[in-house]
Amino acid sequence: MSAEALQRYAKSLSGLERKGRLRSLMPQAGADFTSNDYLALAGASRIRAAVSAALARGVPVGAGGSRLLRGNHPEHAALEKEAAAFFGAERALYFGSGYTANMALFSTLPQRGDLIVHDALVHASVHDGIQASRAPAVSAAHNDVEAFEAAILDWRRNGGAGHPWIAVESLYSMDGDRAPLEALADLANRHDGFLIVDEAHATGVFGPDGRGLAADLEARPNIVVLHTCGKALGASGALVGGSSVLCDYLVNRARSFIYATAPSPLMAVAVREALRMLVDEPARHRDFAALRVFANAELSEALGCDSSGSQILPVMIGDNGRAVRIAERMRTAGFDIRAIRPPTVPEGTARLRIAITLNVDKPLIRAMFAELANVMAEVPE
Ligand SMILES: Cc1ncc(COP(=O)(O)O)c(C=O)c1O
Repeated sequence: MSAEALQRYAKSLSGLERKGRLRSLMPQAGADFTSNDYLALAGASRIRAAVSAALARGVPVGAGGSRLLRGNHPEHAALEKEAAAFFGAERALYFGSGYTANMALFSTLPQRGDLIVHDALVHASVHDGIQASRAPAVSAAHNDVEAFEAAILDWRRNGGAGHPWIAVESLYSMDGDRAPLEALADLANRHDGFLIVDEAHATGVFGPDGRGLAADLEARPNIVVLHTCGKALGASGALVGGSSVLCDYLVNRARSFIYATAPSPLMAVAVREALRMLVDEPARHRDFAALRVFANAELSEALGCDSSGSQILPVMIGDNGRAVRIAERMRTAGFDIRAIRPPTVPEGTARLRIAITLNVDKPLIRAMFAELANVMAEVPE
């Protein structure tokens, strides 16, 4: 092999380093201000006990095949039945991850002749699904319902005769703000279209019993909702809620569902227990809501900037290098905070993404913001 064959990768990495964009795997360091384990369910004893009991009664660790072959375990079906009832969807389908679920949704459901209109800030997994779609896609300005409508009207004027697919997150992963879901659902209705809502950061946190911000919409035939299970539910995988016909279509056509080993049946047990805990342990929701309100107020007071109102609190820095240096200083001080840089967020908007979870308490949040105010004053622009 020529030296050049590997050198081109090293060169590309050096380029990333020059732009302050090089990423590397880092150990967890200090108090959790970065995970999506919002309700601290990842280590919850009740979920561990449910998984242990399942192991003891012989539920296998591995599924052993894809869902359409030998890998379809009764635990998957039990989870899907319970999840559909919990979320108020006609059916639910369990995927190995939110990433593969978004790949499945966008590469499979929009048909040739349809149009996908996605929010400018929608998650990378939606973009990757769109890349594999038969339908063209256009981006609409963030949370701007008129821009979504203008894109649909423009497409119709140019002969678009299929169905529009509107793609949004209900709570944006890097900004912590909410989508105008009612107005977007109304837009989908008026244009004979569909709305796909990625509830990754709202599931378990918002809506009645944590059913998400789209809870009131989920039963409609033109709404498809993605609930990831690796964030507030503390496990892994993703549940797609939608009509039976769309779920059957995914089972028959979605390559990332068909050509993948089914998720571990034990993980299905863990997710089912997490859903039950959302109903049985309302104190968790109350505690988390109170912590969220406290953290938002502390952020505004310590840094004098607006807060999102949710558990995701971005602190805008702008420059990639400065964001990395501030995050490093915070980790050294015992607060696990990460810098988020392009291409995950738009150019020039590098930020600290502070996530509030039940893994921390009020004194720790107060101490973290006090330290952050000091560090930001000390690390030069
Ligand atoms: C908005 C959004 N959608 C989808 C995903 C992917 O979910 P998962 O981590 O389960 O693959 C994520 C997680 O990073 C996300 O933030």
